[in-house]
Amino acid sequence: MDRRKVLKGLGLAAASLPFISANAPRPGITEYQHLFNDDLTADEKFWKKFRKDFYDVPKDFINLENGYFGVQPLPVFEAYIKNIERVNVNSSRYLRTKYSDDFNSIVEDLSSFTGIDSGEALITRNATEALNIAIQGLNWNEGDEVILSGQDYYSMIETFEMLEKQKGIKIKRIKIPLLPQTDEEILVSYENAITPKTKAILVTHMIHLTGQIMPVKKIADRFRAQGIEIIVDAAHSFAQVDFKLRDLGADFVGVNLHKWFGNPLGAGLLYVNKDRVKDLRPLFGDSGDNENDIRKLGHFGTLSVPTVITIPVALEFNQMVSLPRKEKRLRYLQNYWTSQAKDLPGVMITTPSDSNRSCAIASFKIEGMETKEVISKLYEKTKVFTVIRYLEDQEVVRVTPNLYNLTGELDIFLDGLKSIT
Ligand SMILES: Cc1ncc(COP(=O)(O)O)c(C=O)c1O
Repeated sequence: MDRRKVLKGLGLAAASLPFISANAPRPGITEYQHLFNDDLTADEKFWKKFRKDFYDVPKDFINLENGYFGVQPLPVFEAYIKNIERVNVNSSRYLRTKYSDDFNSIVEDLSSFTGIDSGEALITRNATEALNIAIQGLNWNEGDEVILSGQDYYSMIETFEMLEKQKGIKIKRIKIPLLPQTDEEILVSYENAITPKTKAILVTHMIHLTGQIMPVKKIADRFRAQGIEIIVDAAHSFAQVDFKLRDLGADFVGVNLHKWFGNPLGAGLLYVNKDRVKDLRPLFGDSGDNENDIRKLGHFGTLSVPTVITIPVALEFNQMVSLPRKEKRLRYLQNYWTSQAKDLPGVMITTPSDSNRSCAIASFKIEGMETKEVISKLYEKTKVFTVIRYLEDQEVVRVTPNLYNLTGELDIFLDGLKSIT
């Protein structure tokens, strides 16, 4: 479909959206498949073409803040625009006659991509909603304890703080090591906080502040055996690193589809092990009598239908790139800058360098310089956009390249860093 026509139909001129390019012919996802092989990780020529073919990147700044949400690859973006139009034109007729078949097949395909059964998957509006359904769905009693780390995501911490006030549960806050050398160091931090009253542990698979990857499977294996519920926040790890949801070994996992999976904003997924669906009480009103049906948890009203029906294209794009290749390239980009920045005067990288402990996201700070000053000077000198993150008792600069970023952009960032250290 002609993109300009679609945009015009939506009352938007392409010229008014400078990031939307004209109708340049582009290979489709299927035609691209054969261009991939496994030696492309450091092949800038390939990634330059990939970027040109699949992304509209900003012309006036370099985006190294791809942690908030993922830029949609163009085939996804175009499908989304088409879907907005399709839903608007066909209106309730589509929703009443066709949508539920489409929805069911989307759930099937997404479940198979993530390695779970469709009866274990609930599409939500984001990871916060998915995790709230799991956390608030459990049966909490006064005095029950939950273990959280100071590096978990603030919305999840707030959910437990609310339960602390409403139900009298107790939060045990632990500090996890910033730069662990072994998994055992992390496990011990949790172990030390366990008491006979521990009901659950919330584990963030990839910490949003530093990009540290937590040994979730080991945590789940060790503490689930003691009857402790393991709730995993995989908002950032999903589709950034290569794993299947079931492999995490936890019964409850919340993910985002609008971060690394690259779907339009407003989509997440909750995985609940099928034997545990019955143990969650619906957060939103439900009067059904099948306690094992995960749909009992999903009465949050109408979803953004164009967003949901774009999931198959995002899925296809991820399959085209493949998660192992994506993970390798993203880690390569991160290592490219961290391995050089670590030797600059005053620079401290606050992300573990082991390949199994980090991927695209990394953060740093500069001795004696305020983080606010670091990001504003970097932007002033190089137009590189980064973000401050608040890491317990310190501030760091988070740097997050995406698949469309090239090492040339990281060189510009590194030059900027050299000029201010
Ligand atoms: C670790 C983690 N969990 C949960 C979330 C919440 O995501 P959303 O706001 O899309 O629900 C984020 C968002 O950045 C995150 O980084």
